[in-house]
This record gives sequence, structure tokens and C-alpha cells, in this order.
Amino acid sequence: MKWDVLLKKTIFAVADNAAMQRFFDKYGMQIGVQRFVAAESLEKTVAAVKSLNAQGLEVTLDYLGESVTDREAALEAVDMILQTYDAIRDHGLNANVSVKLTQLGLRIDQTFCAANMDRIASCARNKGNFVRIDMEDSTATSQTLAIYKSLLNRFGSRHVGIVIQSCLKRSMADMRELGRFGANVRVVKGAYQEPPDVAYKDKKDVDANYIKLVKHHLAGGCYAAIATHDQAIIGRLKTYITERSIAEDQFEFQMLYGIASQLQKQLVQEGFRVRVYTPFGSRWYPYFTRRIAERPANLWFVLKNLLRR
Ligand code: FDA
Repeated sequence: MKWDVLLKKTIFAVADNAAMQRFFDKYGMQIGVQRFVAAESLEKTVAAVKSLNAQGLEVTLDYLGESVTDREAALEAVDMILQTYDAIRDHGLNANVSVKLTQLGLRIDQTFCAANMDRIASCARNKGNFVRIDMEDSTATSQTLAIYKSLLNRFGSRHVGIVIQSCLKRSMADMRELGRFGANVRVVKGAYQEPPDVAYKDKKDVDANYIKLVKHHLAGGCYAAIATHDQAIIGRLKTYITERSIAEDQFEFQMLYGIASQLQKQLVQEGFRVRVYTPFGSRWYPYFTRRIAERPANLWFVLKNLLRR
């Protein structure tokens, strides 16, 4: 096993430890969580979005939370997401919303989750806005795509979007199907630990599949959100977009809050549309863990902040 894969596995295993979670719950905001999470409150998040918008960056807001096990928590999340659309309208923000289906009750009951998602998609459409369903681990892929396709039928690709992960072996087949429906797809590499029977384990394969997926979707005339901080991939796709004269309203770049901020600004200066995935709320622990596992060098950043306390 390669050392980076081993290190990622270790980070995920340590992160699952209950004592570790309690420690982070208590001290998280002091040890650097705010690098990746805009704020705990919606009010402070609005200020962060205004600042990003002022730099020419668009935003997608993510109210943090996932894998809920009771209906009340799912309904609370729906309420907060609806309030987020109100805040976007009231403050004139250039932002849309991203959601996770396990936050809306997917692990409790798919019908309940679909009904919750329906309320959110209706709100997005009524407000002339958009909602994208994030993709979680591969045990949720088929259910997530089923709920998305049913929404797409009713709300259209101007109001609902989905995510495809290049690490999954099934993704090209899914992308072909989504392309037939004209879906708006965010392409990512994939942030979850996956078994080798469903996912590519070699980074080269994940990267090659990423480029193939985006090119396939763009060539089919569909909208792609190119979500990566990988400069080599961005460079190759920029060349493809120029060579094929892909219209500027057919794609956008997306990056995560607090990561590659310089690259975000550079792309804006070059005239590209860039959207920053901006998480907020107090349930940041699993999101934060994934950001550390993606780049174990971030561990040093956490340790430095710990020592400064
Ligand atoms: P890669 O991991 O190869 O990183 C390329 C470079 O980016 C690194 O060399 C480093 O410089 C920088 N970088 C990457 N991650 C970093 C980090 N954590 N800290 C500091 N620097 C970092 N995943 C998923 O499974 N479902 C989803 O719905 C989403 N949604 C999503 C939205 C958006 C807007 C983005 C950008 C990403 C996601 N992801 C996601 C996460 C995605 O799957 C992936 O884990 C991360 O984007 C990291 O992969 P890169 O494409 O950046 O490449």
C-alpha cells in the first residue's frame, strides 16, 4: 500500500474516534477550522459571501451536516436551507446552495428524504435560484441519482444539479445517462474512502477519468462545473475549452472555501466564472476531516494552531 493511501486511512480511522471528536468539538474553531468553514452562524456567513462576491467570486452555500439519524434533525436542516435562500435574496448575494441527501434523511427513509428535497427544489425554483445535490460515499450513489432524476424531470437543469465522482468506475456510464437528460453536473475526484471493486485506487486513473468525464459532458453540449484545485487538470481543460470553442455559459470552475484562493482569483482575472463552495454551521467535523485527509500536509497546519493556543 502506498504511504499516502495509508496515511489517509489512518486519518479517517483516528477521526472516527469518539474522544477525538469531543476534542475537536471543543477546540475546533481555535485550531484552524475557520480556514475551511466560513462561520457557524448564517449571519456571519452572509458577510463572508459578500466579501467573496466583492472579489468577483460566486458562491455555493453548504449548511453543514450529514448522516442524520432522526427526522427532526433532517427537518431542521430543511428549515435552515430554506432560510439560506431567504438570506441570499434579502442580501442580494450571488450564491446558490449545495445539499447532502444524508442530511435530509436518506439513511432513514428515501421517500421522506425525497419529499424534503422536493421542498428545497421548489424553493430554489420559486426564488429563481439553484440547488445542487452533493455526492456522498458510493453506498448512496444509486439512491442519490434516482432522487436527482425525478427532480430533474419536474424542475429542470436550470434549478437542480448533481455531482459525479471520477474515482468511481461506474461514473462514465452515469455521465452518459445524465448527458442524455441535459443535466448540470459538477465533476469532482471524490472525497470518500472507497473499496477497490467500485473505485480506482491509482491517482493517475482518477485524474484521467476526471478529464474524460468533463470532456464528454461538454462535448455533449451540457453544463459542467469543473470542481478541482488541480492546476494541471484545469490547464488541460482550459485548452480543450478554447480549442472546441465551448461557450462561456456552458461551464464554471469551482473550488472549496479556503483552498487555492490565489488560483480562484487568477481564474477570475482571466475572465472565467469561479464559484466557491462555502460551508457554514456547527456540524463541521466530517467535512473538516475530509479536508485534512485530502492533504495530510494540513495536519501541520492544525498542529501549528494547537501549539499557538
Ligand atoms: P487533488 O486532491 O489532486 O489536489 C490538487 C491540489 O489541490 C493539491 O496538490 C493541493 O495543492 C490542493 N488541495 C486539494 N485538496 C486540498 C486540501 N484539502 N487542502 C489544501 N489544498 C488542497 N467530493 C465528493 O465526494 N462529493 C462532492 O459532492 C464534492 N463536492 C465538491 C465541491 C467542490 C466545489 C470541490 C472543489 C470539491 C468537492 N469535493 C466533493 C471534493 C473532491 O472530491 C476532492 O476531494 C477535492 O476537491 C480534492 O481534490 P482535487 O480535485 O483538488 O485534486
